[in-house]
Amino acid sequence: MGETVIALKDVSKIYGSGHTQVMALAPTTFTVETGTFVAIIGPSGSGKSTLLTVMAGLQEPTEGSVELDHQAFNQLSEKDKTAFRFDHIGFILQASNLVPFLTVEKQFFLIDKVAKRPKQTDKVTEIFEGLGITSLSKKYPSDLSGGERQRVAIGKALYNDANIILADEPTASLDSEKAHDVIDIFAKEVRQRQCAVVMVTHDLRLITKCDYIYRMEDGHLTDVTSKIDREKIAKSLV
Ligand SMILES: Nc1ncnc2c1ncn2[C@@H]1O[C@H](COP(=O)(O)OP(=O)(O)OP(=O)(O)O)[C@@H](O)[C@H]1O
Ligand SMILES: [Mg+2]
Repeated sequence: MGETVIALKDVSKIYGSGHTQVMALAPTTFTVETGTFVAIIGPSGSGKSTLLTVMAGLQEPTEGSVELDHQAFNQLSEKDKTAFRFDHIGFILQASNLVPFLTVEKQFFLIDKVAKRPKQTDKVTEIFEGLGITSLSKKYPSDLSGGERQRVAIGKALYNDANIILADEPTASLDSEKAHDVIDIFAKEVRQRQCAVVMVTHDLRLITKCDYIYRMEDGHLTDVTSKIDREKIAKSLV
């Protein structure tokens, strides 16, 4: 058994107030251990992104507590939260988080600068090769396709060797071959570094390599790992 790196206790999220209130996340208790690859599936508007952003401390839950790497998030100042996120979490948002005025490779050197360390050029090379983005290194985000931008964003999330990787539909703009490459990279990170990956996806074909599968419906999260026949899904692909 791994160590618990993500712990949500009775976490809920209500947006708005009065008659426009939306209970996007019903009280949810959820833990993730090191060395596990978790998928969250479920229909549009069911609360998947809400869960992930609350998990990353990007939004306050309405109630409940979030602990990442044994650190209770609500006890940190905004500044400390940002620093903690930088060190512990690789986050891939639905909208890509690239800096518009920096070339692809400079996006990575900026991370080195923020971390006050020398440029990790070998690591950049390795990540670029893994994601097939080497030829894009001198381009600006505005000159990339949606799928290319997405792969650069994935590279950035992997660059700090974060213990926790949270990915919101990381493969949405990728064709199925590239999507599988990304899943293989995540699975490899989980195995080799014993990090935890939580990935939201619409694509059932991508969950065959996940250790746990949860389904979100109307803000309610259910463990469906044993109910989903991954073998069958894998076979239906060929
Ligand atoms: N900032 C917000 N203010 C008010 N309501 C919101 C806000 N963000 C999300 N919602 C609502 O909360 C519910 C859950 O949204 P969420 O973005 O978590 O869904 P999702 O499962 O990620 O959907 P998708 O698959 O389309 O990305 C939806 O009904 C949505 O309209
Ligand atoms: Mg979403």
